[in-house]
Amino acid sequence: MSSDINNLLRDKIPEIQLDLNTVKIDTTVPFDLYDEYGNVVVEINTPLTEPLIKHLKSTGIKYLYYNPAQSKAKENPAGLDTGKNVLDESQQKESIDLAKEVLDSIKSTIDFTPKSITPDKIKKTYKHVDDILNHIENNSDSIFIPFNKLKSMSEYTYIHSSNVSILGALLGARLEYNRTVRVRMGVGGLFHDIGKVLVDDKILNKESQLTEDEFRLIRNHPQLGYNLVKDSRELSTLEKSIVLFHHERPDGQGYPFKYDYNSYTGNVPKEVRLLSICDAYSSLTIKTPYREAFSPKKALRIILNSVYAPFKKKSQFLPADVRDFIRSLGFMLNKGEYFFEKGETVRLSSGEIAVIEEMNRLYPINPKIRMITNKQLKALDRPVTIDLLREPSIFIAHIFDRSTMVQAGSKS
Ligand SMILES: [Fe+2]
Ligand SMILES: [Fe+2]
Repeated sequence: MSSDINNLLRDKIPEIQLDLNTVKIDTTVPFDLYDEYGNVVVEINTPLTEPLIKHLKSTGIKYLYYNPAQSKAKENPAGLDTGKNVLDESQQKESIDLAKEVLDSIKSTIDFTPKSITPDKIKKTYKHVDDILNHIENNSDSIFIPFNKLKSMSEYTYIHSSNVSILGALLGARLEYNRTVRVRMGVGGLFHDIGKVLVDDKILNKESQLTEDEFRLIRNHPQLGYNLVKDSRELSTLEKSIVLFHHERPDGQGYPFKYDYNSYTGNVPKEVRLLSICDAYSSLTIKTPYREAFSPKKALRIILNSVYAPFKKKSQFLPADVRDFIRSLGFMLNKGEYFFEKGETVRLSSGEIAVIEEMNRLYPINPKIRMITNKQLKALDRPVTIDLLREPSIFIAHIFDRSTMVQAGSKS
């Protein structure tokens, strides 16, 4: 009852509208900014830079909205301390510096040999991830905002490697892997793209479309990286597998081996598959030469939409892995909030279209849903309501983007 009153009150508070044609460049707003469909498109305190405004306009957005009262009244279903980042900025900076030191040590050698990754550097990395884990384990009620501000593209691999390392350690801790595995997931994350130091910077930083040959060179990085680490006595099989397999996918479109579903599930260990999701999350939330960074909410939606389902042509991750990633880190990455909500339309792994009827606080990807079509997408005469927590074989395989749905609707 009280939540109904809150909703009514919220509706009465006028939203503030920002016109992207007149807003002052580099304005910073201390609230999340929404598009007209209620999606957060610019996160709290993000400067509205010229490229960002240009990008937003190119996607058809003319106005952004925020509502100070609503922002303050936001629910935090996970009960996290949303004012506290699990790692402070100096710890994140230290992690980035370490990634730089480890990766640059190879670049600095004339012949790019594995010898440049000295046992000392590996030991230092283990010690560093161990320290990070101490913080993570002592601040389990906080949120985590991966570092995503690049001064130049050459910083990308350092910052990204550091993010993947922290996310890997965090995920290992949340999933209660033993301490050794937690540390190895963090160390593997720091080393995962080590092969990129052998790919020409000009290709990695290229702003225009890559040629087929350039793609091929980039796709060599897992194998190149593996050649660098395979004989290391300090690194375990898990870290080496992370380097080699982090771009394999269950739909056969990964690399370097293009494993099919069976080879993927048979050869790529769970910890490596989870690291691949951390890798994807970090990539999505960092700006690149060809696109803006996605918000945590959007990145989590993209990851959920990449889940393997029979009706999809392209699917990047196994359902159980996505579930573990989202249940463990979803709230923590999205500042204690759900990343989709009641009323949104989804497609189930079994093929039907459904509407979210009620969210589940503890299991955010297992809400109650109302099926509105059958598997052939024919409307049901009588909608069927299902609690996805009680139907473990069915899961949400796609969340429709509201703006795409409106556009699709207006064309028909
Ligand atoms: Fe990679
Ligand atoms: Fe990566």
